[in-house]
Amino acid sequence: MSRAGRNPDKRVKTARGRTASSVRWLERQLNDPYVKQAKADGLRSRAAYKLIELDEKFAILKGVTRVVDLGIAPGGWSQVIRRRLPKAGVVGIDLLPTEPIEGVTIFEMDFMADDAPARLQEALDGPPDLVMSDMAANTVGHKQTDHLRTMGLVEAASWFAIETLAEGGTFLAKVLAGGTDTELLALLKKHFRTVKHAKPPASRKGSSEWYVIAQGFKGRAEDIPG
Ligand SMILES: C[S@@+](CC[C@H](N)C(=O)[O-])C[C@H]1O[C@@H](n2cnc3c(N)ncnc32)[C@H](O)[C@@H]1O
Repeated sequence: MSRAGRNPDKRVKTARGRTASSVRWLERQLNDPYVKQAKADGLRSRAAYKLIELDEKFAILKGVTRVVDLGIAPGGWSQVIRRRLPKAGVVGIDLLPTEPIEGVTIFEMDFMADDAPARLQEALDGPPDLVMSDMAANTVGHKQTDHLRTMGLVEAASWFAIETLAEGGTFLAKVLAGGTDTELLALLKKHFRTVKHAKPPASRKGSSEWYVIAQGFKGRAEDIPG
């Protein structure tokens, strides 16, 4: 009987003590052109190219002066912002620690904490014109649960954007397959002039992530009908 057969819960280990899945991850990383490019460009994440590609298509960064980066770690998106918009004020938040980025205020805390929205707002000298969320909940492997948990974060991020954005502003968020659900889509369509979905080339084909891009925030007049 093989070792795995004797103990089916144990993952196959390579000579270096890596599990089979971490070997697959490592192989994918080593062969990934975006990972190589990120290294060459001094960017902390391959995710940075998703923002670059989405900006190429939707001009997300045009004219932006204040940015909120939800799920900032390790910091690739904010690095892109600082390079493209050196004068922009940037504040980010993440459960995980993020190495400092010059010109960016970083909170290591849960965005879902009661005081998180106020702290983010206080760190900027006015309303943001771009709220972007790359947050994803830790997956548990149960498709429906994972979807609901990440969509909960997207919904909270959407409300934060609606409550803080400057008129004309943009909300960009990672969503899972199927795009935004009907209710969330209706909410965004009510508050933004255009709402689109895109999967940038840097987003891995096998992943169920998409991005929603809501542009032209209509403002906070209590009176948006519907
Ligand atoms: C894909 S990563 C972001 C990558 C980032 N855009 C970059 O380019 O470096 C998603 C991040 O969302 C964070 N996150 C998930 N849930 C969160 C929450 N409730 N509050 C704050 N951050 C959260 C995770 O810790 C993770 O670092």
